[in-house]
Amino acid sequence: MSADENRPLRFDVLTLFPEVFEPFLRASMPGIARQKGLVSYHLHDIREYSLEKHHKVDDRPYGGGPGMVLRCGPVFRCYEAVRAMAEPAGRLIMLTPQGKRFNQDMARDLSRSQRALLLCGHYEGFDERIRQGLPVEEVSVGDYVLSGGEAAAMVVLDATVRLVPGVLGHEDATSLDSFAEGLLEHPQYTRPPEFRGMSVPEVLLSGDHARIQQWRRRLAEERTRARRADLLQHESEETETSDEQTE
Ligand code: ADE
Repeated sequence: MSADENRPLRFDVLTLFPEVFEPFLRASMPGIARQKGLVSYHLHDIREYSLEKHHKVDDRPYGGGPGMVLRCGPVFRCYEAVRAMAEPAGRLIMLTPQGKRFNQDMARDLSRSQRALLLCGHYEGFDERIRQGLPVEEVSVGDYVLSGGEAAAMVVLDATVRLVPGVLGHEDATSLDSFAEGLLEHPQYTRPPEFRGMSVPEVLLSGDHARIQQWRRRLAEERTRARRADLLQHESEETETSDEQTE
């Protein structure tokens, strides 16, 4: 579904640590996007949905083992309450190392939606029935284990927000980003033209726009080949697929 032009993209964050999001959401792009009225953020403390004394939300794993598991009750109740606070239902993204690896395409997709609910776990993980009983899309930000989903949710939110139309002053900037074209970004320079014996490549000072574009493309390709040949592999697969479709 494409975003209603006039409606801000709404983020609901379901977390045990809402306070860690506050400074992040005030600063930089997430802050600018909110000031411009293009997004809104709503933080929800899962602990408030616990019916236990001291708002306990975790418990020992059945079958034994180390650590604690996030219980179903508080998460289901929190989701149901938050879901009912606005329309549309939106997508429920569960941050977990077991999820689909987050990438630029997923960020772009999300930036075109109207609402995203980001569910952050903690401890050893979620009770499996949260996966079974709620309409979660599991997302991982990389092959490492964080102590909680909060940092991962910030990654997803930041990458998404900067793609919402109107957030960046310079709309072109996102189409030139690393990954936008499946390539890493070319090297960038700014003043001064010479610093500690290192100079800016002459072509960038030439004012010859066509030459500059060629140089940038070549450097982006070289850098991608050297550092992330896997991205070029995907690109050629995609080209093959779209060729097939036009035949
Ligand atoms: N929670 C813990 N580790 C994570 C990861 N790598 N991605 C998303 N959520 C996580």
